[in-house]
Amino acid sequence: MIDTLKEHLVAVENFSSQSPEEIENFRIKYLGKKGLMNEFFAAFKTIPNEQKKEFGQVINQLKQAATEKVNVLKEALEDQQDTAGIYGDLTRPGQPLELGARHPISIVKNQIIDIFSRIGFNVSEGPEVEDDWHNFTALNLPEYHPARDMQDTFFIQTNPDILLRTHTSSVQVRYMENNKPPIRTISPGRVYRNEAISARSHCFFHQVEGLYVDKDVSFADLKQTLQYFTTEMFGKSKIRLRPSYFPFTEPSAEVDVYWGLETEADYRMTKGTGWLEIMGCGMVDPNVLKNCGIDPEEYSGFAFGMGIDRIAMLLHQITDIRLLSENDTRFLKQFKSAL
Ligand code: DAH
Repeated sequence: MIDTLKEHLVAVENFSSQSPEEIENFRIKYLGKKGLMNEFFAAFKTIPNEQKKEFGQVINQLKQAATEKVNVLKEALEDQQDTAGIYGDLTRPGQPLELGARHPISIVKNQIIDIFSRIGFNVSEGPEVEDDWHNFTALNLPEYHPARDMQDTFFIQTNPDILLRTHTSSVQVRYMENNKPPIRTISPGRVYRNEAISARSHCFFHQVEGLYVDKDVSFADLKQTLQYFTTEMFGKSKIRLRPSYFPFTEPSAEVDVYWGLETEADYRMTKGTGWLEIMGCGMVDPNVLKNCGIDPEEYSGFAFGMGIDRIAMLLHQITDIRLLSENDTRFLKQFKSAL
């Protein structure tokens, strides 16, 4: 009998639990009305007198140990609940980290940078608040030139010399002023035009400008570069150049890529022609080279400019340009990219 008690003593001392039910079951098992302690006390009466002293001591020890164990475990449990009040349940799984997605404009911009960097173009940038010289005059658009009306300009307050750039061609000028040929650079950035906002046009959007200046740069180099670009960007190598006019290039052209007419979306996007206009380009006008301190007798170059928003809309079949600046996460989280 005494051995059984001693075994229980060890079991009580070793018992541990954080579950309220287990602790309560433990309490009932030893200290409950029909628990072991009461059984042992009842058995005490039947013990021979000479053993009573030792037996009594062990029973009391066991009762004390069981009572103390229950108290200690319950207190620990309460402490835990107190901290739960401040920090919540510390054992629950953590909040999953939500990964953001890159903006479609950034995705397309990075793709374009990647494609041109493979053929030796670097990236250059210029200010969005620009002066008249870099945005217009140096680009062969002197004051009162009618082509200035092609782009409605936001001026900064009342100073007609300071404006929000209407195109990234201004970066061409800055780059040529500060670097000697050979020049191979692309300039991505945001541009602004005073236009009514609709599904098709916005008062700000994004462009990438390209510029290549060296000895003997020809129109054939331009065409080859554009063809490389459309193949890499769209997987389409059939392009056509339509004669056009830009003050800063001569000759000038608009570039169409043959998109095809395979799906209904192709018909819609190309208005049934299969062709999509993707950019403007041309040979840098000798006047522009001169304005930027480059001798047009020695050097020639080509330039091109394209709208990033437009390309992003084509590639992802986005039908309203305003979605690109509303920052609605339901729209944005549909885009994934490695670049
Ligand atoms: N700056 C023109 C625009 O905003 C785009 C452009 C056309 C840029 C022809 C060029 C170019 O460099 O050669 O519409």
